[in-house]
Amino acid sequence: MFGDTRAATDGAAFTSARGPFHHHPVIHAPILAPSLLAGDHAHLAAGTDLAAGLGLSWVHIDIMDGHFVPNLTFGPQTVAALRPRSKLFFDTHLMLAEPHRYVEPFAKAGANLISIHIEPAYDHAGTLARIRELGCQNGIVLNPGTPAAAVEPVLAFVDLVLVMTVQPGFGGQVFREDMLPKIAQLHRWRAERGLSFRLEVDGGVDLDTGKACRDAGADTFVAGTSFFKAADQAAFARTVAGW
Ligand code: DX5
Ligand code: ZN
Repeated sequence: MFGDTRAATDGAAFTSARGPFHHHPVIHAPILAPSLLAGDHAHLAAGTDLAAGLGLSWVHIDIMDGHFVPNLTFGPQTVAALRPRSKLFFDTHLMLAEPHRYVEPFAKAGANLISIHIEPAYDHAGTLARIRELGCQNGIVLNPGTPAAAVEPVLAFVDLVLVMTVQPGFGGQVFREDMLPKIAQLHRWRAERGLSFRLEVDGGVDLDTGKACRDAGADTFVAGTSFFKAADQAAFARTVAGW
């Protein structure tokens, strides 16, 4: 239900006249994930209700520890408090110096996907595997300064790759256009290797910058400020759905 894809399973990649070595790129249907960071922190459930009311299926939840990024947000208790109030897919983005210590509490709190950054030193592969063992989808995240090659070794073992299009820590920053080639590179590797991870972008994403990301191969769009401040949020959601 949450990972529906378009044309992901047509076997033409191996049988068509294109030849046996041509891989069809996976084209996932676009998903809009409103970021609760830009919502009302005194009433976070208003953000999940808004998303659900528009027929969206995902919401993005930013977890910051004041170490990996210079800001603090929510903890597992916040996720647990939202869980019984919402059926949405909780896309939980851990911006933590020691994410391996917290994947279990977030899984128990009701996260559906847990993404962890590649930059800190810990057992990335083991933590990604642990997230799946806990019954969640997993994701690997790259900061703007981190090259695509840094996540190459784990691409076969993730459900999602998140390319940060701002330096993480705060909402409302300006989209980094220089991240588009990185998105395109990851999209190329995904096709060449027959992988099907989702390719998500986060930071400064609006209807213009998000469309540029879509054209580069992204399929999952985190939108904080642009979505919550949009005059017509239904129209915003419809536009993304049409990409
Ligand atoms: C930034 C967070 C983002 C943030 C994006 O550190 O990871 O998810 O909510 O906010 P906008 O869309 O306002 O840039
Ligand atoms: Zn985020």
